[in-house]
Amino acid sequence: MIDDLISALAASPRVSGETLARSVGISRQALHKQILSLRKMGYEILGRPKAGYRLASEPDRILASRVLNGLKTKFMGKNLIVAEKTDSTQSEAKALAEKGLSEGTTVLAEEQSNGKGRMGRSWESGRGGLWFSVILRPSLPPQKAPLIALVSSLAVARAIESTVKVRCFLKWPNDILVKISKKGHRKICGSLIEMSSEPDRIVWAALGVGIDVNNALPKSLESVGISLNKITGKRIDRTLLFRSVLENLEGTYKKLLRGGFKNLKKEYVRRSLIRKGDKVVLDDSASRVRGNFVRFDPDGSIVLSMPDGERRNFYAGDVTL
Ligand code: BTN
Repeated sequence: MIDDLISALAASPRVSGETLARSVGISRQALHKQILSLRKMGYEILGRPKAGYRLASEPDRILASRVLNGLKTKFMGKNLIVAEKTDSTQSEAKALAEKGLSEGTTVLAEEQSNGKGRMGRSWESGRGGLWFSVILRPSLPPQKAPLIALVSSLAVARAIESTVKVRCFLKWPNDILVKISKKGHRKICGSLIEMSSEPDRIVWAALGVGIDVNNALPKSLESVGISLNKITGKRIDRTLLFRSVLENLEGTYKKLLRGGFKNLKKEYVRRSLIRKGDKVVLDDSASRVRGNFVRFDPDGSIVLSMPDGERRNFYAGDVTL
């Protein structure tokens, strides 16, 4: 109901109390009460019942109806669940995928109490970020699942560049970073992919994405991460950004299913912080290796040239330059 009321208010510059009450199916008296409670929630609504109402500004809050209004996707995010707080959208999406919810179903939370990062790490998820997970049902073999998170970072990079106008770089496999000084970069987005599979096919995959947007990062993360509003000095419209992420994600995901990573590799390489010949250290949960970067392979793995000259493919891990 609140969702519908906000959408109706946002749809025109000024709307009469009568039209508003009719469009959400409540009495004029009930509408008055709703307007007062919206004002308490931080919505700046100007006007009075007779003169009509105008939505002057909104708090930084994601409403499903505002995201869906104008969302140009066929399936990505069309079934959108927005929670105030959850332990992890990833856990929720996995449970929903098990129940059979459709491809593109997306769970977003304003806050996560137990956000999950890659390789068993936790993910700081206070209010103001974009924390969401998408259910996918790709016709791909399980070993190709990491490619989904890889190309999702391309989608997020495109969305940030087009809506926030901040240049984005990628660090294999899924990190998005921005340049903050001549040589310094900080992470603004991470993603992870989890799945249920049979030997030769993915049954479902849950793609989890975390973007630091208007949220404050704890001191302990300030040397590695940054949020978009800190970079731009402005509050970012998260609804616009999220809509654009979903639209771009549908595009890169379809492209991946149609033609594999080769269709997107050129852009991935162009945005990559890791360049041919760079000395890198790669940590996975089992070991730490040093090598020189050679290329990304079509399966999304990174190829390193080892000190003994051998070339090896790695499928997961953290890279330090
Ligand atoms: C990383 O380690 O870089 C991946 C971070 C992924 C975080 C997102 S936030 C939404 C979704 N829910 C989670 O619990 N994790 C992912």
